[in-house]
Amino acid sequence: MAAPKKTMRAFQYDKYGGGAEGLKPVEVPVPSPKKGEVLLKLEAASINPIDWKIQKGMVRPFLPWKFPFIPVGDMSGEVVELGSGVTNLKPGDKVISISFPTGGGLAEYAVAPASLTVARPPEVSAAEGASLPTAASTALQQLKAAGVSSFDGGSSNAGGPKNVLVTAASGGVGHYAVQLAKLAGLHVTATCGARNLGFVAGLGADEVLDYKTPEGAAMRSPSGARYDAVIHCATGTPWPAFAPVLAEKATVVDVTPGVAAAARSFLQKVTLAKQRLVPLVLIPKKEEMEWLAEMTRQGKLRTVIDSRFPLSRAREAWAKSIEGHATGKIVVEMGGEGEE
Ligand SMILES: NC(=O)c1ccc[n+]([C@@H]2O[C@H](COP(=O)([O-])OP(=O)(O)OC[C@H]3O[C@@H](n4cnc5c(N)ncnc54)[C@H](OP(=O)(O)O)[C@@H]3O)[C@@H](O)[C@H]2O)c1
Repeated sequence: MAAPKKTMRAFQYDKYGGGAEGLKPVEVPVPSPKKGEVLLKLEAASINPIDWKIQKGMVRPFLPWKFPFIPVGDMSGEVVELGSGVTNLKPGDKVISISFPTGGGLAEYAVAPASLTVARPPEVSAAEGASLPTAASTALQQLKAAGVSSFDGGSSNAGGPKNVLVTAASGGVGHYAVQLAKLAGLHVTATCGARNLGFVAGLGADEVLDYKTPEGAAMRSPSGARYDAVIHCATGTPWPAFAPVLAEKATVVDVTPGVAAAARSFLQKVTLAKQRLVPLVLIPKKEEMEWLAEMTRQGKLRTVIDSRFPLSRAREAWAKSIEGHATGKIVVEMGGEGEE
């Protein structure tokens, strides 16, 4: 295990806006772990849309919590130092962690909460590990919010949904959602772009729709299935668009609800509506991260990596995420090929 350096390379921004060009390469002090934190020598980090949405000011004034800010919360690496009170980890451990909303992942070293840091099995690569925390946890929590209680083939899912629709199934969250829904034994209809129809079918989806066709835009199942649940990862779908394709009792779990969606959800709740829009904001859980890593170790959950960039090219990774056309996850690797 290498001793931590005093300074490290990182990318940070110092104001809202600016996109990829707003990320500045800097040499800054290696952070020190505080109580309950660990210092990681990073091997990989994965970018999620929330990272650049924070930079855009979409969570202003709450995030980022300070400027300048080193973004990205999803990371994997090696523990090099423990903050006080950390007893479940030791230097040398290979781990997966999420440091949200404090970020820090676009750097050679980062501090992370020990309470959200889990062992990375040797069978799980650093890039796969860094891809899991936000995207796979969100997919898992969406399915749970839709009533899925078991991922062992569906035998104990009685009373849960049977037919699900996964929108934006080619993206970071969606590609995990399709696989987890199949592990739960559900019938999966999925939407994605034309170029990814085969890819999403390969993840296990039973039916795949091109979202740019009239059938796909209407989210109509080719077999006529009505959805008991929608794992909604796409944006900008008005609630009335769901009405014709939902079962009598159905849940649409939306991870990008606007104000109107939140208001509708509240109204549906108080009127005990059978068709419900449920907004979901990820609350990361250690035990779920451990389970996702274990599913990956067992080969039951696959991480598809859209693209990998060395830390020196983090701006390209950032720009790629902003474009919104990733197939799977965008990963930044520290110390990889091309690093000087
Ligand atoms: N609430 C939360 O806690 C939470 C957590 C995680 C993510 N999110 C949000 O969830 C959304 C998805 O995240 P992500 O990481 O999966 O994003 P992503 O990886 O950037 O998604 C990109 C993929 O979505 C596809 N896509 C875009 N619009 C589509 C549509 N209308 N229908 C079907 N496919 C479409 C794209 O296909 P094409 O290239 O073919 O267009 C591309 O493959 C983001 O808005 C993110 O901010 C929220």
